Amino acid sequence: MEPQSRPMTEARTMQPARSPSGGEAAGPPDPAGNADLSPLNVALSERSYPIHIGAGVLRRAGPLLASLAVRDAVVVTNATVAAHWQAPLMASLADGGVRAQVVTIPDGEAHKNWDTLQAVVTRLLELRCERSTTLIALGGGVVGDVAGFAAAVYQRGMPFVQVPTTLLAQVDSSVGGKTGINHPLGKNMVGAFHQPRAVLIDTDCLATLPPRELAAGLAEVIKYGAIRDAAFLAWLEARMDALVARTPADLAHAIRESCRIKAEIVAADEREQGERALLNFGHTFGHAIENALGYGQWLHGEAVAAGMVVAADVSRRLGRIGEADVARLAALVARAGLPTTSPALGFERWMALMGRDKKVVGGTIRFVLLDALGRAAVTAGVPDAVLRDALP
Ligand SMILES: NC(=O)c1ccc[n+]([C@@H]2O[C@H](COP(=O)([O-])OP(=O)(O)OC[C@H]3O[C@@H](n4cnc5c(N)ncnc54)[C@H](O)[C@@H]3O)[C@@H](O)[C@H]2O)c1
Ligand SMILES: [Zn+2]
Repeated sequence: MEPQSRPMTEARTMQPARSPSGGEAAGPPDPAGNADLSPLNVALSERSYPIHIGAGVLRRAGPLLASLAVRDAVVVTNATVAAHWQAPLMASLADGGVRAQVVTIPDGEAHKNWDTLQAVVTRLLELRCERSTTLIALGGGVVGDVAGFAAAVYQRGMPFVQVPTTLLAQVDSSVGGKTGINHPLGKNMVGAFHQPRAVLIDTDCLATLPPRELAAGLAEVIKYGAIRDAAFLAWLEARMDALVARTPADLAHAIRESCRIKAEIVAADEREQGERALLNFGHTFGHAIENALGYGQWLHGEAVAAGMVVAADVSRRLGRIGEADVARLAALVARAGLPTTSPALGFERWMALMGRDKKVVGGTIRFVLLDALGRAAVTAGVPDAVLRDALP
């Protein structure tokens, strides 16, 4: 197996990287606020990589990548993202002495498929890319997943850099090394683990994101607080209005905490034997909503938001958390501009849809439930009577 396509099994810790001067990680104060500008480090022994987070990171991409010995690159993007962010990225790459070409793929989940993968690989061959060329994904999760998979398989693996431009991609899909495409018989059914060399997260990119897409990303941010970090959840309650207003320093902090939590969980359980399943909080119910309404009606994050409120309510009915906890989570979800109420599918339909979920083991649906705001556990064997009362 090629080194770049190896899973992150040796990942154990997530720690702040040292600054280029070799000093400790506490970065210089952000002139616009007090954000930490030092990169996070995803600790994967010889394949460790930095996550740079902040305003203006994209405009520093060239020098940043040059310092990682990137000389030749191909940027994979789509027309929607390119209209806003291709020119500044290309200018920065030129500035850093990185030679770069662009490959544009069609926008949308429907194009996360074999045809698009084939088209990207064909362009790489036509451009006579070598295995040393770095592939740069500029876009949301769809671009990141397709480009990452192309990088994993092109000549058995080429270096790959993520420049995620949606909030969802910045807090979720760009961390963890999962790449892939959809198959007509199922979402994300074909793919590979392929870790990037670096992740460059520019909060400025979120300025052009439609409000619904921003809110969808906030659902995953709230998820991290709910399952793992009560202090972060309290911070989200204090700063949700600033996040919705896209205040760069607050966005940077929310992204940083989210990436830290996801990387910690993935590092501890890369193959989803245990702890990584916690990342599915709200997702068993959410996937049922997406499936019932047809993908595209509700965004993934919207379905997850409503699903998290159901999961909290089920937790309350089992006596694991209080009514006030459910109300707090629902209020935060609502302030992010996300739905708190699931569609009334009826009990039988819910159960049929959830029975198809990947998280069913041995015929029992495993739910991620809360034991407190900030602490979650995987639970099998929730009584039907409880679900019947909880599900609309
Ligand atoms: N690999 C993983 O671990 C992982 C994790 C979660 C989700 N995913 C995948 O991610 C995908 C969803 O990603 P997504 O929510 O980013 O959707 P997306 O990539 O479809 O982006 C949403 C829309 O926003 C546009 N867009 C992107 N950046 C923009 C910007 N800065 N300004 C304006 N418009 C912009 C896109 O072109 C698109 O139309 C799914 O395919 C999902 O399976 C992967
Ligand atoms: Zn999700």
